[in-house]
Amino acid sequence: MARIPVLDDLGDVNGKRVLLRTDFNVPLDGTTITDDFRIRAALPTIEWLDSRGADVACASHLGRPKGKPNPEFSMGPVRARLAELAPGVELLENLRFDPGEEANDPDFAARLIEGFDLYVNDAFGASHRAHASIVGPPKVLPSAMGLLLQREVEVLLGLRTNPKRPFVAVLGGAKISDKLGVVEALLDVVDALVIGGAMCFTFFAAQGKSIGDSLFEPDQVDTCARLLESGKTIHLPDDIVGVDADGVFATFGTRLPEGAKGYDIGPGSAAAFSDVIMESRTVFWNGPMGMFEDERFAAGTRTVAQAMADTKAFTVVGGGDSAAALAQFGLDDDVDHVSTGGGASLELLELGDLPGLEALRGAPNANAGDAS
Ligand code: 3PG
Ligand code: MG
Repeated sequence: MARIPVLDDLGDVNGKRVLLRTDFNVPLDGTTITDDFRIRAALPTIEWLDSRGADVACASHLGRPKGKPNPEFSMGPVRARLAELAPGVELLENLRFDPGEEANDPDFAARLIEGFDLYVNDAFGASHRAHASIVGPPKVLPSAMGLLLQREVEVLLGLRTNPKRPFVAVLGGAKISDKLGVVEALLDVVDALVIGGAMCFTFFAAQGKSIGDSLFEPDQVDTCARLLESGKTIHLPDDIVGVDADGVFATFGTRLPEGAKGYDIGPGSAAAFSDVIMESRTVFWNGPMGMFEDERFAAGTRTVAQAMADTKAFTVVGGGDSAAALAQFGLDDDVDHVSTGGGASLELLELGDLPGLEALRGAPNANAGDAS
């Protein structure tokens, strides 16, 4: 397999026009950016190029405008924030305003690279998409992965290949089906799985426990039963908080009465999960333990987030909701790596590769340093 070219493989960038694919798909409230993490995460690459005399233009998608211009998804707010963080760096309009982006249309890719000498992909969060701006430019232009993409790949693939042990994956969120691929891929390499979030109810159902009216996935019960029999250590909650049939806040064991709904792991489980995290040497966390947007059901996620911050283990947090939770608790600086990718981090862990990485391996400069 060809190696993925890095910034140094671009040669002298002085005076060159560089198209920098970034993932500036940030959360917006109207025109206000509620979290600029993804913009800040691209700054080291921008500075690397800028300080060497390159002329950088960034390009990103924002939201899902479905191939048509839509002012709701204008890059305006992002451009304003970028101008504060990296003055003078250009930002093209939303790539997904053109249907050619998601359709991976070669004509769109050709238009996109017009006038550029080099291409850099630093859009880790979008590199699982075989879209025009991700896979098109490296077919033509000398290309490289940016510093963010490089770090994401090192950290996440490192989990698959040589984690310090014990290695524990803490998984939450509503659906086991969303994470099944990654669970299967990690099962061989982790020492234990910790399961929280609504997905625990599908495991409870597989154990024949009553789950009241809690969210679960009936078609995944057999899968959960199989995972429970895999011989791996799987830590499930042993208490649950939620509401009873009358909608009143309540604490339960692992058998919920009729009409009850579980919305978070209970305090005993949170403490037990925290112990597991403290005793591990590598922890990967993806998915909240409960409905943390509601303060009544935030405690489980907060305790896990705090343990992630406190443990001496090497800690990696998948993007999306768990990253948002960490940020909400002000703990995002206290873990070793917060991925900028949600879907991309799961797909890289599951498959060990991404369309965006594969495309870079095929770039004209990819084998420049190879003797073979
Ligand atoms: C993300 O936020 O997950 C990435 O930017 C990719 O966006 P998408 O899921 O709309 O393709
Ligand atoms: Mg997504």
